[in-house]
Amino acid sequence: MEQSDSLSDAPVCRLGEGRKVVDPCSIVIFGASGDLTSRKLVPALYHLCKENQMPPDFRIIGVARREKSDEAWRSELRQALDQFSRTKPVDDQVWQAFAQHLLYCTGDLTDPAAYQKLADRLAALGSEPLRRNLLFYLATAPSQFGVVVEQLHRAGLLDHEPQKGWQRIVIEKPFGHDLESARQLNRELTRFASEEQVFRIDHYLGKETVQNILMFRFSNAIFERLWNRDSVDHVQITVSEKQGVGQRGGYYEEAGALRDMVQNHLLQILSLIAMEPPVSLDAEPIRDEKVKLLKSLRPLQPSDVTKQVVRGQYFAGALNGQVQPGYRQEPKVKPDSNVETYVALKMFIDNWRWSNVPFFLRTGKSLPSSTSEVRVQFRPTPDVLFAAQCGQNLDPNALTLRLQPNEGISLRFNGKVPGTTLAVRPVRMHFSYDAEFGAYTPEAYERLLLEAMAGDATLFIRRDEVETAWRIVDGIRQAWDTKPLSNREFYAAGTWGPIAADDLLSHSGHAWRAPVAV
Ligand code: BG6
Repeated sequence: MEQSDSLSDAPVCRLGEGRKVVDPCSIVIFGASGDLTSRKLVPALYHLCKENQMPPDFRIIGVARREKSDEAWRSELRQALDQFSRTKPVDDQVWQAFAQHLLYCTGDLTDPAAYQKLADRLAALGSEPLRRNLLFYLATAPSQFGVVVEQLHRAGLLDHEPQKGWQRIVIEKPFGHDLESARQLNRELTRFASEEQVFRIDHYLGKETVQNILMFRFSNAIFERLWNRDSVDHVQITVSEKQGVGQRGGYYEEAGALRDMVQNHLLQILSLIAMEPPVSLDAEPIRDEKVKLLKSLRPLQPSDVTKQVVRGQYFAGALNGQVQPGYRQEPKVKPDSNVETYVALKMFIDNWRWSNVPFFLRTGKSLPSSTSEVRVQFRPTPDVLFAAQCGQNLDPNALTLRLQPNEGISLRFNGKVPGTTLAVRPVRMHFSYDAEFGAYTPEAYERLLLEAMAGDATLFIRRDEVETAWRIVDGIRQAWDTKPLSNREFYAAGTWGPIAADDLLSHSGHAWRAPVAV
């Protein structure tokens, strides 16, 4: 019998549905008056509720210093939701049901009494799972992570005895500012909790298309066999942002693009793109492979940093006719700051698969567009036939994974220009998520909160991943720390970074490709 080739008849293979049983639980948010809570966490939880993905029963308890009632907190969050919800207008009926689960607990994070109050509030909850299954979201400054975990332990809220339910801690970057401080932080976190209880967020891992990298690589036979040094010439990873640092100058002066983006998001994308197949789809085998990949990155000695890493800082420029201030003119930025707002790197992975294949990574603020994509450029054809005649004009094949916006995958290859003359030019085959599946753009936090409630650590960063990534970044930092920025390291806002970033590729006969416009 003939099989239909139509996509609408194709079977959908559902993975891991059985794994994601979410027990009733209480989510405790420390730092409940902060931006993260109102802009990201509560909108994400509201949407999970709207899509019936929350457990059958749950509570969300906000803890912060300011005195307020449950009602006052609810009405603040409602206003924030009207502003930040990804779907508008807010559904009143869903909100009313959701708001019943929101409770507020006043307390100073350094004061043991606050934790006692929280414990009392939890003890008063109707059901055992709500009292025992606890997700602690630390939306606080990292300097408070240690004290919160210690106090939770002292208040008996971090039992870690499976028969007493589960307790998990969710934290966000920065996980330290170098290897030493990251180790210190990890020690503090695991003094009173086990590593299995700690869920470290990198919000890039919650993005639909970042998750798709593994699926794309390991569920297709045709691409994975090209995914190695025999076929791949080089790989470009771009995470560009149109915005400058804006109001975040204070934070950014301490971070810079290397710590803010490379240490986490870019190295995460790189590890998913380049890692070996894991032995299973469980969290640990996947995280093992990511760490192995990071450990295979060739360390950069100070002398390599000058040749393989480019930093930059934007000065005033224009974007779409709008004047953009320079970094040094942004609020809370030192007028002679040397902090980098752009980084480009050429890295090598010293393993069997990728030996001598350059990986070019770049990220920056105040660039011409906000785009994240990975471009895998394949080797050129042998220098005969078309290549012999066309030379450099024969485009090499490339596969682009577009992570955001306009998520999709494009394959670029050569085709004959129709007509009586013999001419060839690149064409593109494009798969667009929206066109295929309809617009579906859940916030990364929705997925991540759900996974944390379900106890699946796949999309979270393990301790050794954080530390290995810092080791890579620290070497670069040290080479820069003593050197002020030179003239060649500045770029006008609204351009694709300093000239030195182009040289980084042109020295080996390559060029950055502007992100695919779709
Ligand atoms: C954050 C950085 O982690 O990621 C920000 O601190 C950056 O500086 C942001 O703007 C980018 O995330 P997204 O999801 O907008 O690409």
